[in-house]
Amino acid sequence: MHLTGKFCNTEGVDTPAVKGADGLLGEVERAEAALRAAADRAGAGSFEAVIEADQKIEPRDVMPEDYRKGLIRQIAQHAHSEIIGMQPEGNWITRAPSLRRKAILLAKVQDEAGHGLYLYAAAETLGVTREELTEALLSGRQKYSSIFNYPTLTWADMGAIGWLVDGAAIVNQVPLCRCSYGPYARAMIRICKEESFHQRQGYQSLYVLANGSPEQRRMAQDAVNRWWYPSLAMFGPPDSESTHSAQSMAWKIKRFSNDELRQRFVDMCVPQADILGLTLPDPDLKWNEQRGHYDFTPPDFDELMRVVKGDGPCNRQRMAHRRRAHDEGAWVREAAAAYAAKGKTA
Ligand SMILES: [Fe+2]
Ligand SMILES: [Fe+2]
Repeated sequence: MHLTGKFCNTEGVDTPAVKGADGLLGEVERAEAALRAAADRAGAGSFEAVIEADQKIEPRDVMPEDYRKGLIRQIAQHAHSEIIGMQPEGNWITRAPSLRRKAILLAKVQDEAGHGLYLYAAAETLGVTREELTEALLSGRQKYSSIFNYPTLTWADMGAIGWLVDGAAIVNQVPLCRCSYGPYARAMIRICKEESFHQRQGYQSLYVLANGSPEQRRMAQDAVNRWWYPSLAMFGPPDSESTHSAQSMAWKIKRFSNDELRQRFVDMCVPQADILGLTLPDPDLKWNEQRGHYDFTPPDFDELMRVVKGDGPCNRQRMAHRRRAHDEGAWVREAAAAYAAKGKTA
C-alpha cells in the first residue's frame, strides 16, 4: 500500500499528506521488527523475567491470574468496540455520495469486522470462548468504547470519524504493538496498519468537503465540532482517576498513560486541522512554548462516565441492533456447527 506523499484523488482535489500518521506507522514497523527478534530468542524464564527482558508472554506460559483476567477484559472490550463500531458508519453505506465512496466505506467497515475477529481470536488464547465473550457483551457485563454511542448525523461524519476516531484509535493502539502479550501485540500490528488507512481516507474525505461548496464546508466543520471532544474522551479518564493504569504499565500491557496519549493526539491533530482549514472547537487551544505541547480543554469526563454507564445518545440503539443481528445469525452458527460436526464424523 502506498502510504506516503500526496493522495491521488479522482475528485480533483490533491490532499496533502497526513503529517504525524507517517511517524506512527514507522513506530508500528519498528514494533513488528522487535516482535520478530523476540520470537527468535530462546528460553523465556519466569513471567517476571520475560516482562523485564521485554520479551513476549505466550499462551502456554505461566502468568498471574490477574494478568490473564485483565488482558481478557481489555482485549474483549477492544473486540466488542470494533464490532459495535461498524454500526455508526454502516448507517451511511447506502447513502454514500458516489460509488467510489461507497466502496471505500464498505471496505473500511469490513476491516473493522476483521479487527474484531483477530481480537476475539487473541482473547481465546487466554482460555475464554467466543460464545462467552459475545454473551458478556450482550448481557452488558463487558463494555465497548463509548465513542460509538454518538450518532452519525451527516455524510461529513464519515470523514470526521476516520480522521479523529480512527486517528485516536491509532494513537492508543500503536503502543499496544509492543504489549507484553504476544498474540495481542501481533494482532495490533495488522490492525494499526489498517487503521492508518482508515484515518487517511477520513482525512481525505473531509479535505474534499472542506474545500467544496460553502454548505459542504459548514457540514465538515459541524462534524469536527461534534466529534472532537468524544475523540479526546477515547483516551479514558485522566491519569489521576484511571483505575487500571499502574498495574498495566508494570506488566507492559500499557506503555503510556491516558493523559500522555491524549496530548500526543492533540499535538498531531492541530497541524492537520490547519491543513484542512477547519477549526478545532476549543478556544483555549494554543501552543505552550515551555511544555513543547499544545494546551487544550479536556473533555467532560462526567459526560464520558454517563455514556459509559449506558446513557449516551445511542447506547440502547447500538445494543438492540447487536442483539438483533446475533439472533438473526443463529441459523448461520447452527449450520456452521453442524457442518463442522459432519466433517469430524466423515
Ligand atoms: Fe478497527
Ligand atoms: Fe478503523
